[in-house]
Amino acid sequence: MGKKIKAIGILTGGGDAPGLNAVIRAVVRTAAGHYEWDVVGFKDGYAGLVERHTMPLDMDDVSGLLTRGGTILGTSNKANPFAWHIGDGDDRQTIDRSDEVISYIKSLGLDALLAIGGDGTLSIADGLSKKGIPVVGIPKTIDNDLYETDQTFGFDTAVSTATEALDRIHTTAESHHRVMLVEEMGRNAGWLALHSGIAGGGDIILIPEIPYSLDSICEKIIWRNRSGRLFTMIVVAEGALPKGGEQVVAKIVKDSPDPIRLGGIGNVVANQIEKRLGLETRVTVLGHLLRGGTPTAFDRVLATRLGSEAVHLLARGESGRMVRLKGSEISSVEITKIANRQRLVPVDHTLVKLGRQMGACFGD
Ligand code: F6P
Repeated sequence: MGKKIKAIGILTGGGDAPGLNAVIRAVVRTAAGHYEWDVVGFKDGYAGLVERHTMPLDMDDVSGLLTRGGTILGTSNKANPFAWHIGDGDDRQTIDRSDEVISYIKSLGLDALLAIGGDGTLSIADGLSKKGIPVVGIPKTIDNDLYETDQTFGFDTAVSTATEALDRIHTTAESHHRVMLVEEMGRNAGWLALHSGIAGGGDIILIPEIPYSLDSICEKIIWRNRSGRLFTMIVVAEGALPKGGEQVVAKIVKDSPDPIRLGGIGNVVANQIEKRLGLETRVTVLGHLLRGGTPTAFDRVLATRLGSEAVHLLARGESGRMVRLKGSEISSVEITKIANRQRLVPVDHTLVKLGRQMGACFGD
């Protein structure tokens, strides 16, 4: 890059996650406070870049953000300058507005762009980087499904929220001698269900990476009932699917780069259990509850470390990279390595083995 930085842009893209505001705060405190650069926020992810909606960000604007959920910049999981949708119905078209966006970034006098997001947001950032914009990515998602980082911020908070929900549902399951299913987000990855399932003592944990059989689920419930445990807690990832079967699709969001929205598997499995075993079964879908609220201390620290390092990276003249957590260290990796990939749970992952040792059934 070589050029001395004076101003940078920042955006948050994709589904929101606890810790986004903490990253924005860390970026502004490091960039404006430490290096005395100007920082410009783009509103609603890449939509702000295409539609030219910005907000200046200075030290006062980020005061009080560390603990606040959501993102003050707004976000979008539809906007993509490389595939921008216009018109409706038969007139619907997809056009590439990336060149326009690049001219706009230059016209604002910005020397670099920080993109905070998951694989969709970072893949677009990779595209802009390849077109000559110095970009640094910051990995976010409650799904924890990004490659090249041990953990994304937002995940720890989502696991904690899910675990608290499981703890609460546990006591009512026990009181009523019921089978309780808790459906959790995570897209095609089972990280959230796996971690919270272990933390919350799930008796059955269903994740997309290990297709389930109803026989196996029912055997576990019967075994528990025979051994005097008259309730069963089932944690099911929204992407879970039966052996030889399909995921349950809740809706198709046409404009979205990843149009499939999963959801509904909890009810499917619950109805099958009730029909087969005649046991009272209830479902709780945690849904967007997992994306909201105050970040945990772990996520606040991670978000602050990532945001700050992203700025230092630019100051050192590095770009085209994503900052990441590896072990206990923050480092960076070429952004192109993570683009368009989803990190799934390996079926022999240590937490799967641990779950099995603790007596959890994975439905296989
Ligand atoms: O990627 C984050 C996530 O919350 C997924 O877990 C979930 O499948 C998806 O986003 C939901 O998207 P939307 O907010 O569009 O319903």
